[in-house]
Amino acid sequence: MWPFSHHYSLDEIGFLNGSVDYHCHILPGVDDGVRNLEKSLAALSYFEEAGVTEVWLTPHIMDDFPNSTHSLRQGYNKLRAAYNGSLIMHLASENMIDSTFEQRFSDDDLLTMGDGTHLLVETSYFNPPMHLYDTLDQIRSHGLFPVLAHPERYFYMNVKDYDRLKDMGVQFQLSIMSLTGMYGEEAAVKARHLLWEDKYDFYGSDLHRLSLFRKALDAKVLTGKDVNALQKLKLKAHVESFETVHESLAWNVG
Ligand SMILES: [Fe+2]
Repeated sequence: MWPFSHHYSLDEIGFLNGSVDYHCHILPGVDDGVRNLEKSLAALSYFEEAGVTEVWLTPHIMDDFPNSTHSLRQGYNKLRAAYNGSLIMHLASENMIDSTFEQRFSDDDLLTMGDGTHLLVETSYFNPPMHLYDTLDQIRSHGLFPVLAHPERYFYMNVKDYDRLKDMGVQFQLSIMSLTGMYGEEAAVKARHLLWEDKYDFYGSDLHRLSLFRKALDAKVLTGKDVNALQKLKLKAHVESFETVHESLAWNVG
């Protein structure tokens, strides 16, 4: 079906059509993502035209962008009021495990995903945070499933780390641009490894700038094996997967 030598782009395979974006920085003016309302609306229109059905807005909450859940909710309400398209939108957050995470966590000041069951987390790309595994355990004990954003982009992580994280019930979210080499060769290699091994549970655009994202969509870098694995992930990551996990959460915790 997929000739060996041919390479495909995400656009060419219609990856966005019928997809849910589980990670993007489209909420305007709150982090290093989209800067203003006009650009947010342009990105949402683009998604709509490409056939995306649902979007999770996941602004950073971290020492560098100390957004409060209250202010993010306010920004979200403004965006919702200005948007009259057909996309289903949700507000969540991408939570950096950094020096202030524990405080936010113990204050229960979180914007979760799914049915309040999942927490999208990230770490520095270069160094593991102190007590990474303890923090993830704490999140699990709190009744939440940690979803690790773009595991392929952490330079300090290797196959052993990925296996350990999966064993403890951490879910993985692929940043689809990683496959195109947008974040370097190492991230692309790791992304393929994890994708082919069926280690991802979700995916996301991690869109910060529409122009960059469109460029990545046009990159003809996907092999037939990548395409098949991506289609499989797309099915797996359907919103019902939140419910599937719900059951295993109940089984694992408590
Ligand atoms: Fe992100």
